Amino acid sequence: MRSAASSEISLESIPLQIWTELSAATLNLSDPWRTPVLASLNDNQPDARTVVLRLADLSRRSLLCFSDSRTSKVAALQLNPITTWCFYDPVRRIQLRAQGRTRIDTNSNLTRQFWDSIPPANRRLYDSNPPPGEQIKAPESLEFGACPEAHFALLETTVDHFDWLHLGQIIHRRIQLHWTGLVWDTHWVAP
Ligand SMILES: Cc1cc2nc3c(=O)[nH]c(=O)nc-3n(C[C@H](O)[C@H](O)[C@H](O)COP(=O)(O)O)c2cc1C
Repeated sequence: MRSAASSEISLESIPLQIWTELSAATLNLSDPWRTPVLASLNDNQPDARTVVLRLADLSRRSLLCFSDSRTSKVAALQLNPITTWCFYDPVRRIQLRAQGRTRIDTNSNLTRQFWDSIPPANRRLYDSNPPPGEQIKAPESLEFGACPEAHFALLETTVDHFDWLHLGQIIHRRIQLHWTGLVWDTHWVAP
């Protein structure tokens, strides 16, 4: 169960708490942390979009979402993998930012495993003609091909930094976490 607020939060407990809550969000359709904003750089231009968090894995320090490999964000991430994820829970008033480098995975056991989990009716979305971002005459004019799996990609970010912020009634609390290579180094910062 989620902690209601964060008065009980400690520097020692926060790494595990963050990963546990992110992981829980992947399983709960109504959890606001399930639909974060993923930001990247496209030719030095900041770009951001909503995605669905599909996996949060403490052991790999990874956050993962799906994408069509033909989207502009995939092309941009191939050139610059630096990424920030931004999560906000308006009920608990907690913002979490996660930074790291993002890898594009189109052909692995994990890709196939996730592909198999997608309902067949949703798979065709990965084979639109024309591809995402191209101009079309009208929404109804979009066609779908027969090879959607060929465009299915996982975007997996290995997180090096978290910035956690709780807006409290009386005081705000903010913690930064940095992966040292061995452990999460944590410290309070002024909000
Ligand atoms: C609630 C919601 C969830 C979304 N989830 C994803 C997702 O998991 N992966 C994805 O590529 N796009 C997702 N999208 C669409 C993106 O926000 C974006 O419009 C699309 O990926 C094209 O972005 P790009 O041009 O930056 O690649 C989602 C949009 C919404 C509104």
